[in-house]
Amino acid sequence: MMDKQAIFEKWINRKDEEFKKETKESARLFAKAQENLPGGNTRTVTYFSPYPLYMAKGKGCKLYDVDGNEYIDFLNQYTALIHGHCHPAIVEAVNEEANKGLSFAAPTEKEAILGRMICERIKSVEQVRFCNSGTEATLFAIRAARLNSGKSRIVKIEGAYHGSHDLAEVSVLPVLKEAGPNDRPVSVPEHRAVPKSILDEVIAVPFNNKEATEKIIREHQKEIACVIMEVMVAISGCIPAEDGYLDFVRDLTRELGIILIYDEIVTFRLGQGGGQGIYDIQPDLTTFGKVIGGGLPVGAFGGSRELMKVFSPLEEGSVTHSGTFNANPMTLAAGIACLKELTPAAMERINSLGELIRQGINSILEKNGVVGMAIGLGSLAHVHFNKERVRDYRTYAQGNFQAITLLHRELLERGINIAPRGGEIAISTPMTEKEIKMFLTAFEESLIEIKPFIKQTTPELII
Ligand SMILES: Cc1ncc(COP(=O)(O)O)c(C=O)c1O
Repeated sequence: MMDKQAIFEKWINRKDEEFKKETKESARLFAKAQENLPGGNTRTVTYFSPYPLYMAKGKGCKLYDVDGNEYIDFLNQYTALIHGHCHPAIVEAVNEEANKGLSFAAPTEKEAILGRMICERIKSVEQVRFCNSGTEATLFAIRAARLNSGKSRIVKIEGAYHGSHDLAEVSVLPVLKEAGPNDRPVSVPEHRAVPKSILDEVIAVPFNNKEATEKIIREHQKEIACVIMEVMVAISGCIPAEDGYLDFVRDLTRELGIILIYDEIVTFRLGQGGGQGIYDIQPDLTTFGKVIGGGLPVGAFGGSRELMKVFSPLEEGSVTHSGTFNANPMTLAAGIACLKELTPAAMERINSLGELIRQGINSILEKNGVVGMAIGLGSLAHVHFNKERVRDYRTYAQGNFQAITLLHRELLERGINIAPRGGEIAISTPMTEKEIKMFLTAFEESLIEIKPFIKQTTPELII
C-alpha cells in the first residue's frame, strides 16, 4: 500500500504539470527572482510549490496574473482588501496624497482623523497609536500591557497568530507530538530562533476550553501582564468563540487584574464595532492592521487613555514608540477612504455573502458525501476536511491538509483564488451573489475531482 505522502505526490505532480503549462511567465519571473531573493520571495505565506503566481493587476474582485489568467479573488490580500482591488475612492485619495508628499518627519492632520474614525467604531478604544504592521501592533500592545502592569508573562491561545516577533512566535501551529496535553499545552517555538527564555514568557491556553484556561491563568496570575486573543482564531481556520468563552475570559482577567488584549487585525472587518462589537465585550487594549490601511502597510494599537499614556511624550517617564513610517500620509489617506466606504450596509452585505458561501459549501459537502465544514463569521470563511467539529487548535490539526492543497489548485484552475496554505476565504465589497455562485460551482467541481484522493488518504471522511 502506498503511503499518504506518495499518494499526494502523485496527485500534486499531475496538477503541477497542468499549472506549469498555464503559468510560464510566473515560472520565468520566479526563477529570475531567486538570484537575489532567498526562495525567490519575501513573504512565506504567498509562496506555494512549484512557484507562486505573479500578479499583474487587480480590479474590483478580479485578479490577473502575468500570463493573463483571470481569477476571482477570494483571498483579498489575506483579508486586508475589504473593498477588493483599486477601489476608485481609495486610489483617488492615495493619488491626491502622493502629489502632496509621500512621507514627512512630522505629523499630518490625517493621523488624528483616522485615529478618531477607529475610536468612534471601537467602543473600548479612546486613543490609538499607528505603526506599520500588525506585527508591530501586537508587539507594542504587549509592551503597553507590561509597562502598565509591571509584570512580564503573556498568555495566548494555542493555534493563534499575532505576527512575527519573538513573543508571538510561540505555539502558533505546533507539531502535535511536541505540544503536550490538550488541556495543558506546552509552549512550542515556531522555529529554532525563538530563544528559550521567550518560552518561559509565553503561556499557551486551549481556545474554547474554560476549565483549562482558568486553571492555567489562575496558577500564574501574579506573573501575567496580559492575555492576547482574537474573538475568532483566524490562522487555524476561522474558529469562532463558543459557549460564553469570551465573556468568561473577560470576567476572569478583570477579576485578576490582568490586561486583556483583543487582536482585531483580522476581525475588525466583522462589524462596525469590530469582533468585540459582535460579542459586546470590551477588552483593555486592541490591535489593528490590514483593513484600516485601505491596502497600504499599517498597524495600530489602542485602548483607554489611562493605559495608552505610557507612550505619551507629555507624560513624565513615558516610553518611546517610534517608526520612520508610522502614520505616513499615504497609508492614512487610504485608510480614511477605506473606512468611509465601510458603511454598516456594506458590512452587512458582505457578511450575508459570507453566510451564503459557508452554507453553500456545507451543503455541497453533504450532497457529495464528504465530511468537512466551512466555518467562520461574517465575511470570512474557512474550509476544513475534518471529521470532528473544529473548535480549537487540536481539532483543527486533525484535518486533511493535503486535500486543502489540492483544493487550492483545483480552484485556481477554475479561476478562483483562495489562500494557498489553507482553505481561507475573504469576501470583498465588489462581490455579489453572482461571484458566490461562481465560487460554489467551482468548489463542487473541485470537490468531485479530489474526492478519490480524500477517500484514499482519509476514508473516514467519505460517507
Ligand atoms: C490575527 C493577526 N495578528 C497579527 C498579524 C500580523 O500582521 P502583519 O502581517 O501586518 O504583521 C496577522 C497577519 O496575518 C494576523 O492575522
